[in-house]
Amino acid sequence: MQSSSNNSLKHIAIIMDGNGRWACHRGHRRIFGHIRGARRAKEIVQICSEMEIPFLSLFAFSTENACRPKEEVKFLIKLFEKILVEQGSFLKALNARLHLLGDITFFSEKVRDCLSTLVSQSRGNTGLNLILALNYGGRQEIVQGMKKVMEEVQNGKISPKTIDENFIHQLFPSSVFPPPDLIIRTGGETRLSNFYLWSAAYSEIHFTKTLWPDFSKAHFTQAVQEFFTKERKFGSITKHSRIKHSRP
Ligand code: FPP
Repeated sequence: MQSSSNNSLKHIAIIMDGNGRWACHRGHRRIFGHIRGARRAKEIVQICSEMEIPFLSLFAFSTENACRPKEEVKFLIKLFEKILVEQGSFLKALNARLHLLGDITFFSEKVRDCLSTLVSQSRGNTGLNLILALNYGGRQEIVQGMKKVMEEVQNGKISPKTIDENFIHQLFPSSVFPPPDLIIRTGGETRLSNFYLWSAAYSEIHFTKTLWPDFSKAHFTQAVQEFFTKERKFGSITKHSRIKHSRP
């Protein structure tokens, strides 16, 4: 997706936070918020597909989420079982392809089976690339990458000279996707919480207090419009500043 600002929006990544609070504010149990959160996730997938955004990542379960009370983790796994099994026709209708990030061995066999079926069924789809981050952590990805480097050093395949940014980048499973241009975090916290640590280096970040189940099309569109007003410099300086600084 391209706008008059020349910013290209290939990849949006979302940290869907605030489900628990949303439910508690309404006198419900936290898990009810996850049900509504899942519904909202589906709507946002549909909107991204309509807006022809090529990549959308959803941070559905972090490595740290596994440390939540057993009952909530169990519920989330059951919820994934329930919703994933129904998504084949949804992905097909959108011509969307599912990709996974993270260590899914943590989940039940049913979740793993559903995921692998959806991934293989949707492989030929050419529309939106939907990346589900499940039991994913940016630090864990870096640790895995470092282990690979050590193995290659030990096997004499590489020397320190080989190691540059590109080399490190390709070690990460997430490197097959373009880096996120825009990261949205709902729920009021202003941190990345171990999401896409390496590839978020130059992501624009939109934080909103809106809780995930309330994050509507209007909120989403506002985040996208705001992105297009940004001047992305990727560590360089703007044309405008360049002219200013060249005159002593
Ligand atoms: C964070 O809210 C949300 C989660 C840990 C779960 C996210 C999962 C979903 C929205 C379901 C979507 C599922 C798929 C497969 C797309 P929180 O519980 O941390 O909320 P809080 O900050 O208010 O406690």
